[in-house]
Amino acid sequence: MGVLRMGYVHARVTDLAEARDHYANTLGLYPVLEESNRLFFKGWDEWDHHSLVLEEGGVGAIKFGFKVWDPADIDLYEKRAQAFGVEVHRMTKGENPEVSDGIRITLPTEHVIELYHSMTAVGLEVGTHNPDAFPRHLVGIGAPMLDHALIVGDDVENTERFFKEVLDFYATERAVASLDEDAGLIATWLSSGNKVHDVAILKGPNGKLHHFAFQMRDWSDILHSADILTMDDVPIDIGPTRHGITRGETIYFFDPSGNRNETFAGGYTAYRDRPTMVWTADQLAKGIFYHARELKDSFTSVFT
Ligand code: FE2
Repeated sequence: MGVLRMGYVHARVTDLAEARDHYANTLGLYPVLEESNRLFFKGWDEWDHHSLVLEEGGVGAIKFGFKVWDPADIDLYEKRAQAFGVEVHRMTKGENPEVSDGIRITLPTEHVIELYHSMTAVGLEVGTHNPDAFPRHLVGIGAPMLDHALIVGDDVENTERFFKEVLDFYATERAVASLDEDAGLIATWLSSGNKVHDVAILKGPNGKLHHFAFQMRDWSDILHSADILTMDDVPIDIGPTRHGITRGETIYFFDPSGNRNETFAGGYTAYRDRPTMVWTADQLAKGIFYHARELKDSFTSVFT
């Protein structure tokens, strides 16, 4: 069955108290565990123990967790990753609180990903027996779940190839310099199931984070996000608007440390046999911001 989803983002923040306020009170995530320098959160529609880990000391991403269906997938992906030629190490149960054993891989872009097969199940906030549509007392944006991340690195081609050949992802959309066969790859959007993307990769300096995103239900939730961000005086980068790429509805904003967040809704249902959408550099502004059709400097230059 392979990779189910991106199960967690482990990010750095400069100040844990400020970060707690942002992620708990503005985004509305539930704090589930606190250690001396780390905070763990989950969304209301997530059943596993956590989907976001914040660690004090800097900015950017420490690692990304991908949950696989079966423990045997770990062995398969370990062999494939070794054959591909990336650095792979075993990790033990409990190295990450409430997370199973698995493997830790360094991508060609220098990002670290972890594959694991289970995490302590906490349950949905609405339960599983005759559940209501949403919890009555959501806080702030009330983000239901983690959705995807956009990572930045130099070798987009080989990192895309890694996700495809080792982890069985497929590209839903790609951005290329031109339609010439040898034109460089600017970015790629990769899915492991039916989501329009689980991870995307943008060409740029290695090991950087562009943003991580939470999945909302619809466009009205994106507008609601914008309203809450204004109430909480959170700096908004872009939106609310629509992407041409993925067709998703979006708003981008910054956490108190300067890491970019997104709330994202919509997009189309992706299938493995769906043709890959291709965007050329001359139309990329429309692809990224479908209405404005122009890029904003901060969006293409601010990474953490
Ligand atoms: Fe995104």
